[in-house]
Amino acid sequence: METNRWQYNELQQIGVDYANCEEVEKYDVRMRKLRDIKKEINNLVEATAPTTKSKVLEFGTGTGEFAVALSRFSQKVFALDVSPVMLDYAAKKAKSREIKNIEFKHAGFLTFNESPEQFDIIFTQLALHHLPDFWKSIALKNIYNLLKKGGRFFLKDVVYPSDIENYECFFNTIIEGIEKPAGSEFTKEIIGHIRKEYSTLDWILEDLLTKSGFSILDTNVENGFIYTYLCTK
Ligand SMILES: C[S@@+](CC[C@H](N)C(=O)[O-])C[C@H]1O[C@@H](n2cnc3c(N)ncnc32)[C@H](O)[C@@H]1O
Repeated sequence: METNRWQYNELQQIGVDYANCEEVEKYDVRMRKLRDIKKEINNLVEATAPTTKSKVLEFGTGTGEFAVALSRFSQKVFALDVSPVMLDYAAKKAKSREIKNIEFKHAGFLTFNESPEQFDIIFTQLALHHLPDFWKSIALKNIYNLLKKGGRFFLKDVVYPSDIENYECFFNTIIEGIEKPAGSEFTKEIIGHIRKEYSTLDWILEDLLTKSGFSILDTNVENGFIYTYLCTK
C-alpha cells in the first residue's frame, strides 16, 4: 500500500542519533548514572499495577530497562522503538537477564497498527517529544484505541510548565543544574533538546490527552520539567 505523501516520517531520528551503536551504549551508561532507575521502576509498577495476566505495550523502549522490569510482573510485553540499534541492544539485555516474554518490534507511535483494545497497560517515557504536536495527537489517539477499557496509560516526558514567566531564566537554570553532575556532552544534548525537539507545554499535552479520550488520574512533576501522567480509558 502506498503511504500518504504528507505522512510524518517517524523513522527518521531527530535529536541524538540513536541509530549509532556507540550512542546507545553511552545512553545506557549515562541513564543508570543520572536517573534513579529503581525508584522509577517502583513508580511505574505502582502506577500501572501489572498482573501475571497483563498484556503490556511500550513505545520508545530505548535500551529496554523498563520493558525488562515490567516483564517480570506481566504476561507479555511488546517493546517498540524506531531505532533498530536500540532494539538490538535491548533484546540482548533481555536475553542476558533470561527474560523470555518480551517481543521487540521495529515500530513507533504512528506506525504500530494493531487491532484495538488489546493492551491492559501502555507506557512511554521520554519519547513522545520526538513528535510535533499535531502528530502527538495522532499518536495519543492510536494509543487510546489500542488500550482496553479500564486500562492504564503511563506517560513520562520532558514538558514545559505553562506558568514560565521568564523562559530564558527557566532554560538557563535547567542547563546550569545539569552541567555539573552530568558533564558537557550531556549538557549539549539538553541544549539540542530545547532547540530542536518537540517538548510541549503542559496545558497542550493535557488537552491532547483528554481530547484523545483519556481521563487523567494523576499528574506528577519532577525538577519542574519531567512530567508524569497516569491516565485511564
Ligand atoms: C530518550 S530515549 C528514551 C528511552 C527509554 N524510554 C527511557 O526512558 O530510557 C527515546 C527513545 O524513543 C525512540 N523514539 C523516537 N521516536 C519514536 C517514535 N516515533 N516512536 C517510538 N519510539 C521513538 C528513540 O529511538 C529512543 O530509543
